[in-house]
Amino acid sequence: MTHAATRGAGGPALPQERRLVTEIPGPRSLEKFARRREHVAAGVGTTLPVFIEAAGGGVLLDVDGNSLIDLASGIAVTGVGNSAPEVVDRVTAQVAAFTHTCFMVTPYDGYVDVCAKLAELTPGGHAKKSALFNSGAEAVENAVKIARTHTGRTAVGVFDHAYHGRTNLTMAMTSKNMPYKQGFGPFAGEVYRAPMSYPFREPVEIDGRAAADRAIDVFEKQVGASNLACVVIEPILGEGGFVVPAAGFLPRIREWTEAHGIVFVADEIQTGFCRTGDWFACDHEGVVPDLVATAKGIAGGFPLAAVTGRAEMMDAVHVGGLGGTYGGNPVACAAALGAMEAMQNHDLSAAARRLGAGMTHRLDGLAKAHSCIGDVRGRGAMVAVEIVGTDGHTPEPVRAGSISAFCHSQGVVTLTCGTYGNVLRFLPPLAMPDALLEEAFDVLAEAFETTA
Ligand SMILES: Cc1ncc(COP(=O)(O)O)c(C=O)c1O
Repeated sequence: MTHAATRGAGGPALPQERRLVTEIPGPRSLEKFARRREHVAAGVGTTLPVFIEAAGGGVLLDVDGNSLIDLASGIAVTGVGNSAPEVVDRVTAQVAAFTHTCFMVTPYDGYVDVCAKLAELTPGGHAKKSALFNSGAEAVENAVKIARTHTGRTAVGVFDHAYHGRTNLTMAMTSKNMPYKQGFGPFAGEVYRAPMSYPFREPVEIDGRAAADRAIDVFEKQVGASNLACVVIEPILGEGGFVVPAAGFLPRIREWTEAHGIVFVADEIQTGFCRTGDWFACDHEGVVPDLVATAKGIAGGFPLAAVTGRAEMMDAVHVGGLGGTYGGNPVACAAALGAMEAMQNHDLSAAARRLGAGMTHRLDGLAKAHSCIGDVRGRGAMVAVEIVGTDGHTPEPVRAGSISAFCHSQGVVTLTCGTYGNVLRFLPPLAMPDALLEEAFDVLAEAFETTA
């Protein structure tokens, strides 16, 4: 099957340029947004009210003919680029063959192939098995189910600033109230939170091991190690502000969980699949989790998620205890196999390191010129700046918002995040051409100059 025969107007063949032909948002987008307001629940937010009709490489093409530079990747999803040829070809073939049987009714190869690939790519050389789901939150929930069954314990340890999803259990595991939890309680019980390593916001300097011991102390004193089924951690905080814990933090937590028979669950939903310059963020410190939850970048934009882990833990759950109607849908599995092929063929970990080095260089330069940048941080192509006041510390979410809004008005799609809403985060597709990234950062530099 040729790419040309299967691809529509999007994909990497789209001109890789920023092109503005109307104000952002343009008149057609505004018209469509009015219709969206009429029909879509108000609780579903929008970062930038621009309607997209094609995308590929590092650009999003809107309905008014504007070509925007994508620094969001649909929140860390389209690492391989939108409509990547490897994804389009496999998905097209799969759609033409069959769209659904339910893997729990009659199985098919794609599901098993994805599980085999995950065993190969996730950290550690031990025997592994996987189960597939539809969303990151669902993967996290199932990791907890597996850990509870394996250990016979109930308590779940999580960290400050964590984000794990929007279902009832994952809301309980998520730290930030607005907008994720406000008014949605009561939340699931048996979830206990400990302090994270957040180097920029530590009241006194504390190294990674000491920060881990501070968290361990909370778990030991307030929960009891023998009551903990699992500790769930994002190796680099995503929605919480792209916080990279101090070196030694993750290995120490891992060492302690192992000593106490607590299942170590890495939530690699935002950090996985080459984003941080390696297959997974845990790889950077040689941390081998018991269970890894993945989603987002796994399938080039298709809804797929997984829990991958030690075979004996994964097999602890009784037959029928894991699954779901759509989990591991054949089309989503075909997309994942195409996406992982693209990651390997194009060495997207190396691309993430190269893009990340370029972004960090530009951000370090901006930080010298603008004291409102309190911290430049991240790993690979997952980088961020924290915007602060003149004291170098107080979070400035309004300033972060106006910088982001300026970028939007100039055709660069940026996102904010962080517990205090004052972090500008940059997540380009790993298929982003270098020149386009440079142009996006020229716009960002202008945003720092022109916004107060
Ligand atoms: C670290 C992390 N865990 C879990 C989730 C939830 O994933 P989903 O939105 O697919 O349910 C997210 C989503 O942003 C995430 O970043």
